[in-house]
Amino acid sequence: MLVADRNGFPVGQAWMDFRPEPGRVVPKVWAVRVLPECRGSGIGSRLMRELERCAWRKGCVELQLFVEKSNAQARRFYERLGWRIIGERSDSYSYVTPAGVRERVPQELWVFAKFRPPAPA
Ligand SMILES: CC(C)(COP(=O)(O)OP(=O)(O)OC[C@H]1O[C@@H](n2cnc3c(N)ncnc32)[C@H](O)[C@@H]1OP(=O)(O)O)[C@@H](O)C(=O)NCCC(=O)NCCS
Repeated sequence: MLVADRNGFPVGQAWMDFRPEPGRVVPKVWAVRVLPECRGSGIGSRLMRELERCAWRKGCVELQLFVEKSNAQARRFYERLGWRIIGERSDSYSYVTPAGVRERVPQELWVFAKFRPPAPA
């Protein structure tokens, strides 16, 4: 997990998950977020650049992440950083309300990938 630190305060984070999972053979990036009042000043881009550098240094050749189709801002953000849509996927998550009721939330996702750039000649 990378944390963006501004004057000793955590203002952003990005996670990379290397655990193998059925149907997934490349590391997955998730939980990329920056505090609302700190967005638009390059923190998210710096987190992603550092996370990618870290993955390529570890020998990864591809990274993937999922973006909700309704999140146009995140889609633009990743495309600007060179990520590309390689597919789509339906998923869901669930949580338990204070009243003890399990709620299921369906998700329609874009699958984004980024590949390790070729080493300079
Ligand atoms: C997506 C997210 C992580 C981006 O973080 P961020 O710190 O705002 O990212 P950046 O500042 O690097 O770039 C965001 C925008 O600010 C602009 N920007 C970058 N540096 C800038 C600067 N120095 N000054 C002004 N604007 C700048 C970029 O052009 C970019 O515009 P875009 O929306 O057209 O892509 C952030 O918006 C967020 O936490 N969103 C909610 C959670 C979320 O949706 N996460 C993704 C889930 S898949």
